[in-house]
Amino acid sequence: MWKDIKEILIESKELQGRVRELGEEISRDYAGREPHLIGVLKGAVVFMADLSRYMAIPVSFDFMAVSSYGASTKTSGVVRILKDLEESIEGKDIIIVEDIIDSGLTLHYLYNNLSSRRPASLEICTLLDKPERREVEVPVKYCGFAIPDRFVVGYGLDFAQKYRNLPYIGVLKDEIFK
Ligand code: IMP
Ligand code: MG
Repeated sequence: MWKDIKEILIESKELQGRVRELGEEISRDYAGREPHLIGVLKGAVVFMADLSRYMAIPVSFDFMAVSSYGASTKTSGVVRILKDLEESIEGKDIIIVEDIIDSGLTLHYLYNNLSSRRPASLEICTLLDKPERREVEVPVKYCGFAIPDRFVVGYGLDFAQKYRNLPYIGVLKDEIFK
């Protein structure tokens, strides 16, 4: 697995340091409250597991799985819900936890979908952001790292379902995509 990596973009130590900062920042912002974290499967699982353990306040978890429709409809931002939430979010302080924002279409859809369910508050926390790729604006409150427009894997992010368990963010060798 390691031999498939061309370059490490964010080392494990740097990743953990920033995730800790985010956890502490969210803990301060939500002091006295109990945010409900909604992880976007599967990419956000590793980040959410670490982030939540750096939070010094009580939290609860739920998960959603979504998939984009084919390339032709992708520009419309149509997203299909593969797995919906198990609990109502009405009146709750919701934080959407995502691995990466690329075009922004997935989160744009999710944000609007969840806000229609009347949460008390709704914020977005993403580990990575590729600002150059943005097609629609999304209101991101917490962001770990802005990265250049490159396809990355590790720390939850996959290529063909592999590499999610790498402890760092890396770029694959060109031959892997062939
Ligand atoms: P968006 O709707 O274009 O913002 O797409 C976001 C989703 O695309 C993320 O949740 C990831 O699942 C996937 N994605 C985007 N960029 C990458 C990448 O560099 N590596 C792995 N997955 C990515
Ligand atoms: Mg994702």
